Amino acid sequence: MTQALPKVIIHGGAGSSLGHKERLVTLREDLHGIVKQVYQKAEAGASARDCVVFGCQLMEDSPQFNAGYGSVLQSDGQVRMSAGLMDGSAQRFSGIINVSRVRHPIDLAAYLQPAPDRVLSDVGAAELAREMALAPFDPITDLRLQEWMRERANNFQSPMAGVVAGTVDAPEDLEARRGTIGVVVLDMDGRLAVGTSTGGKGLERLGRVSDSATSAGTYANGFAAVSCTGIGEDIVDECLASRIVVRVTDGMTMTAALAKTFGEATANGRDFGAIALSHRGEIAWGKTSDVLLAAYHTGDAVGDTLELNSGTLTGVV
Ligand code: GLY
Repeated sequence: MTQALPKVIIHGGAGSSLGHKERLVTLREDLHGIVKQVYQKAEAGASARDCVVFGCQLMEDSPQFNAGYGSVLQSDGQVRMSAGLMDGSAQRFSGIINVSRVRHPIDLAAYLQPAPDRVLSDVGAAELAREMALAPFDPITDLRLQEWMRERANNFQSPMAGVVAGTVDAPEDLEARRGTIGVVVLDMDGRLAVGTSTGGKGLERLGRVSDSATSAGTYANGFAAVSCTGIGEDIVDECLASRIVVRVTDGMTMTAALAKTFGEATANGRDFGAIALSHRGEIAWGKTSDVLLAAYHTGDAVGDTLELNSGTLTGVV
C-alpha cells in the first residue's frame, strides 16, 4: 500500500467571538500542542482510528473544552457526556449518549466499535462503564460549577452554557458559546476516521440528546470524514456531517461541498461549524458561527482558524 503524509484537524468548539485576548493565547497553545501530538502518533504509523481516540482523550482531559473533564452542567446540575466515533475505512459508527462519571467518553464509543449494539445511552452507558471496569471519575470543574451556580441564582435565564471555560475574573458570556471537541485524521495508509465528544449545550433539560453521537454530528467513509460543533439541534436539522461526506462521495470537490452546505445552512439561520478531511488529503472547515476553534497539521505546518472573520466562511488547505 502506498504511504502518504498523514493529515490531522481538530476542533474545540464554535460560537461568538472570544472576547478576551488571553483566551486566544491559551486556546492556541492547547490546540496546537494537541494537534502536534496526534500528528506524531499518525506519523509513527498508528491507524486513523487510534489517532482519533488518542486526540479525543487529550481534548477530554483539557478543562478548557466542553468534553470530558470541564464539561458543562445540565439544568439539574449534573454532567452527562456523549461521544461518537466513526472509522471511515470500515464505514462503522459507534457512540455513547449521556454517560456520567467517566474520564474519557470516547473510550466507551471505541469499545463499542466491534460490538453488535453500537450506540448505548444512559443506563446502558453506565452498565458499559462498569463492564469496562472504568474507575469512577468526577468531570465537574470548579469553574463549570460556578457557572451553573450563577445561572441558578439567575433562575436559569440562559438557554445554554459557555463552551470554553472562563475564569473566576472573566466568566464566559453564557449565551455566547456552545461546544464540543472533534478530531479527524487521514493516516499514512489513506484511511480516514473521526471522533466527536461533548458535554452538550449545558443547562439543557434532562434526557436531551446531543448531535455528537449521531451521524449528523460525526460521519466518515472512505472518501471524507467530518466532525461538527455548535447547536446540536441545528446540526441534526441539516444532517451536517453526513451531508458533506455524501456530497464529496458523489463527486463534488470538498470546496464545492462546503460552499453548498454552508450556503444552505446560512439561509436556514443555523449556528455551527465543522471540520473535515478528504481521502485526497484536503484539510477543510466551515462555519456559520463567529468563531471556530480549530487547528490542523498539514505535515509541513500547523495552522488554525481562531482569528477568521465572523460570519459564514469555508476553507480548504
Ligand atoms: N454540539 C453539541 C450539542 O449541541 O450537544
